[in-house]
Amino acid sequence: ARAMSDARLAIIVVAAGSGTRLGQQLPKAFVELHGRTILEHALHGVFGATHAAHVIIVAPASLLAQARTIGSRVAGAASEHVTVVAGGDTRQASVAAGLAVVPATVEAVLVHDAARALAPSALIDRVASAVLGGGSQGVIPALPVVDTVKRVEGARVVASVDRSDLVHVQTPQGFPRDELLAAYASADAEHTDDAALYAASGREVVTVPGEPRAFKITTPWDLNRADRMLDAGV
Ligand code: CTP
Ligand code: MG
Repeated sequence: ARAMSDARLAIIVVAAGSGTRLGQQLPKAFVELHGRTILEHALHGVFGATHAAHVIIVAPASLLAQARTIGSRVAGAASEHVTVVAGGDTRQASVAAGLAVVPATVEAVLVHDAARALAPSALIDRVASAVLGGGSQGVIPALPVVDTVKRVEGARVVASVDRSDLVHVQTPQGFPRDELLAAYASADAEHTDDAALYAASGREVVTVPGEPRAFKITTPWDLNRADRMLDAGV
């Protein structure tokens, strides 16, 4: 971990979800994966980045102390640059809670899912570089859609969708701070990601290459896949 944080960058790690689809007792970010919590894995990616940043962990209200302990452990000497806040009922509310405590010096904000436990530091650096070096555009990691895609009504296939111009997107998603704050202030609907909220306010978003390892742990199958990857050292 680095002792100095780049005062220009904040990374909000949203970890306040309950993990309904994972179906465990604990909120998802606090579920164990290969001997550590999912949150701890995600923070290793964040603190391994060359762009050191102010890190804001958004945790369930009942687990703030645990989140602080995990954050300090991973941050080491940089732990003074870690803030922990309670999340909200939706991911969007949790991001808003994180945005509310972004330090005034910050120019760019990355929003990252704790559930993307294995997202590599290189991906965080890629997004951070693009947003710090760019204009007012949002920057999101994307990968091509490899499966054939169908539109259905119930079980019935009603269309084949051309996948050549489709991508699936990941986090971290990066934005100029003032622009993201303005987009959040004017948001009047729930969006599935920050880029959708940003775009809904008329702002532009561009993609950078994503990483397969940044897949989101959603179901027990995903958790098992992450565990096997760590077992195999890949
Ligand atoms: N998240 C959050 N606050 C919420 C909901 C989600 O901080 N109210 C975070 C999760 O902790 C996760 C990320 O947003 O790191 C992506 O959300 P998702 O994968 O949907 O996680 P959960 O909402 O916890 O899972 P589920 O939808 O299965 O309940
Ligand atoms: Mg969810």
